[in-house]
Amino acid sequence: MTKAISRRALLAAAGLGAASGIAGTAAAEESKVLIVGVSCSPRKGMTTAIAMAAALEAAAGVSPRIVTELIDLGGMKISGSDGSSSSGGAAGLTDDFEKIVPILESPNLGGMMIGSPCYYRSLSSLCKAFLERLAIFRAPVLRFADLPVGALSVGAYRNGGQELVIDQILTAMLCHEAMLVGGKPRAHQGATLWNGFNNDITKDELGMESARHLGVRVAEAALKLKG
Ligand SMILES: Cc1cc2nc3c(=O)[nH]c(=O)nc-3n(C[C@H](O)[C@H](O)[C@H](O)COP(=O)(O)O)c2cc1C
Repeated sequence: MTKAISRRALLAAAGLGAASGIAGTAAAEESKVLIVGVSCSPRKGMTTAIAMAAALEAAAGVSPRIVTELIDLGGMKISGSDGSSSSGGAAGLTDDFEKIVPILESPNLGGMMIGSPCYYRSLSSLCKAFLERLAIFRAPVLRFADLPVGALSVGAYRNGGQELVIDQILTAMLCHEAMLVGGKPRAHQGATLWNGFNNDITKDELGMESARHLGVRVAEAALKLKG
């Protein structure tokens, strides 16, 4: 990562990338494209969150219009759907999911990445709960229709089920008519990382590269679809 790109990513993440003077502020605000990365590990700030942060940094480097937000679900308490509404939502539930809703409701939302650790070749229960609770965004309109969505997964084994987890996440997002995307070559499926270095995920160079390639692809698709 060059100094120039890091600075651009930092400005974009701070929401300053497109702003130029007071007169241009409102227009710049509107033209921002928000990419959200959700880390669905119960362990806050660990390998899934770090990989997602790298994907977001790469996304921010694509254009000064891109702004990013990491939602780390680590430590949050989120229940799965209680099945109480016809949309599968959980209208009556009050838990940490409420903190996330305003971010996902942003009119600037242009793309999403969802990351989960592999648990027994499947996604974490936290990730499943998060996906179920997204049901509130399906009615009365499909708010995530045509939203580019990509996925990331970290496992302790080299072939520990990362691609299965990505498949499960993306399949769930089909229920929103989201635009499913992978990553730039060679991360066609999305980002797959191997936690083989005692939780220092940055040492998995190929995996980190796949995270960056996912971020770039989601950002490019978001810019195209937002116009
Ligand atoms: C209950 C449980 C099941 C797991 N199952 C798998 C698995 O099937 N495949 C795999 O590669 N890693 C498995 N792991 C390891 C985690 O995926 C790995 O440590 C990952 O980096 C954790 O993500 P985090 O650091 O963001 O919490 C499992 C871990 C736990 C706690």
